[in-house]
Amino acid sequence: MISNLNNHWNTAYNNEDEQLGWFEAIPLQTIELVNACDLQKDATILNVGAGTTTLIDALIEEKFTNIIANDLSELALQKLKQRIKKSHNYNLTCIQDDLTNPDKLNKIQNVDLWIDRAVLHFFLKEKEQRSYFNLIQKVVRKKGYVIIAVFSLEGAQKCCGLDLKRYNVEILQNNLGPNFTLIKTFNHTFINPFGGERPYVYTLFQRQL
Ligand SMILES: C[S@@+](CC[C@H](N)C(=O)[O-])C[C@H]1O[C@@H](n2cnc3c(N)ncnc32)[C@H](O)[C@@H]1O
Repeated sequence: MISNLNNHWNTAYNNEDEQLGWFEAIPLQTIELVNACDLQKDATILNVGAGTTTLIDALIEEKFTNIIANDLSELALQKLKQRIKKSHNYNLTCIQDDLTNPDKLNKIQNVDLWIDRAVLHFFLKEKEQRSYFNLIQKVVRKKGYVIIAVFSLEGAQKCCGLDLKRYNVEILQNNLGPNFTLIKTFNHTFINPFGGERPYVYTLFQRQL
């Protein structure tokens, strides 16, 4: 069944990528955190809520060979696949699934790096947040990494017409639990395509056991 949220996101992706409020031409901050991980080029990288992000192009340019892009919106994934096919000779795995009620993502194992930019903050219900963090526990391997970049406590209260839950490092750490060690964090104010300031907190954690 196609949910209202699914329609909401598919409608957003009818716009040109450059017109999306979260569009970044070069995902510098995320790549900085990816480079802080000790990863082989064939590491399994799962980008959740990827949309049509240029991060996938950047990971391919960094020569990573095992990239999975997830999104709720099948339109976003279609557009992403088409762009990647045109611009890179590369086979990308795309998984349409709901992070708050996964039925495909939870079958993945041994993820070396989980990357989320701007998705977790849409999950307002505790049950949705629990599903998201349970999925991390399920799929990220021992010594694997987790990058989460979300709206900080100073951030906007809405994005794409939806209410948000905002975060700081402590809240993220509490949700991940003591088995995840904070490796690096910084604040970054993203300037969106319309000139608006959007303060984010960027975090990199490593799973211990
Ligand atoms: C603000 S956009 C960020 C997209 C991308 N990460 C980026 O940085 O360009 C949020 C994305 O999360 C996706 N999304 C929203 N709810 C989701 C869910 N429950 N499961 C998977 N993806 C979801 C949306 O379709 C959208 O592509």
